[in-house]
Amino acid sequence: MTKNLSSQNTQYGSTPHGGKLVERLLDGEAAESWKERSRELKSIQLTDRESSDVEMIAVGGFSPLAGFMDRSDYESVRDGMRLGNGTAWSIPVTLSAGREEAAGLKTGGPAALRDPSGELLAVLHLEEKFEYDKKREAREVYRTEDEKHPGVAALYAQGEGLLGGPIEAVRLPSHKQFLDHRLTPKQTREAFALKKWRTVVGFQTRNPVHRAHEYLQKCALEIVDGLLLHPLVGETKSDDIPAAVRMRCYEALLESYYPKDRVVLSVNPSAMRYAGPREAVFHALIRKNYGCTHFIVGRDHAGVGSTYGTFDAQKIFEDFNPGELGIIPLNFEHSFWCNACEGMASVKTCPHSKENHLTLSGTKVREMLAKGELPPREFSRPEVAKILIDSYRKSPVLQ
Ligand code: ADX
Ligand code: MG
Repeated sequence: MTKNLSSQNTQYGSTPHGGKLVERLLDGEAAESWKERSRELKSIQLTDRESSDVEMIAVGGFSPLAGFMDRSDYESVRDGMRLGNGTAWSIPVTLSAGREEAAGLKTGGPAALRDPSGELLAVLHLEEKFEYDKKREAREVYRTEDEKHPGVAALYAQGEGLLGGPIEAVRLPSHKQFLDHRLTPKQTREAFALKKWRTVVGFQTRNPVHRAHEYLQKCALEIVDGLLLHPLVGETKSDDIPAAVRMRCYEALLESYYPKDRVVLSVNPSAMRYAGPREAVFHALIRKNYGCTHFIVGRDHAGVGSTYGTFDAQKIFEDFNPGELGIIPLNFEHSFWCNACEGMASVKTCPHSKENHLTLSGTKVREMLAKGELPPREFSRPEVAKILIDSYRKSPVLQ
């Protein structure tokens, strides 16, 4: 067990990755002075994903990163899942620019990072411009060069150059949604300390919470002090259920089925990469920064289609020495309702044959909901299913 985790007896939650929370959000005066100066600076227009990366860096969700990766960090993460200094890190966090755009920027000086609406979000202290091999990143990080993979497609759509350097955010992206559930790592940490939670399990999701998800969370809650239900609300694929609908599902579920004082619901602003195993490690490190000591990894975590093996996202944790990650993965087998057990189970706990197991494909569930049919309550809580049916009615596009 790592030093951080063994000191849990005297500490609430985890130590941030790299030892301390690295926040890059300027206070009022410094921010104002950059706003003034920014008029003279060259501008870089950020995509939605890059804006959410700026937000994650600013609030410390990506600690110890202070900015966008330079070549040495980028290549070392891509090829070996470690930053240049050896700290574990599994996903490149990069800022791309077209060749011409990059050529117009001077290294050694500041540039203005503007959100998709043109507003100044942060200043980049540009240290390095470099070229990169997209196919190589696709192979190493996504394990496929297939342009149909959404993460790979996003990578191929990027500019040809990368811009490395620390950032200073002058503000956080302005959000209109989930304002009551936008805790920064500092704030989740404060919440855990207030609740005196020494151990906290993080749950990543980009789906409505069905019974299987609930089962994993509650199994974990039997052994840790609290749960951070931490849905990802940054960019997702267009056929994923919108975050606003999911949030209503989470709230309804918590209201009726969870002890209020054992759960914090807060959003993770970052974008989905669909990088399966690599992203599972990334998701775990992010939750460590938010204060979690444990992290749930179930079947095909962050996967898409049949790109990854069902449990690849659990196996990858073995590529790190004990202590390197500083957060404990809680691995779960495929979970389901078993009619013979009369309860939720997995192959680890259920001796019965498949005919007893209620498993529905995502496609089947979507079909049912679109037709206004409630899936069996052993699959999905009716409170959740009703919200989903409602949203399908209002937005047939989802079908
Ligand atoms: S994602 O990040 O993995 O795409 P998703 O919402 O689909 O998010 O899943 C959340 C977590 O629950 C992941 O750790 C996933 O592996 C796990 N999970 C989802 N369904 C099941 C299941 N039926 N059995 C076991 N684990 C599951
Ligand atoms: Mg999934």
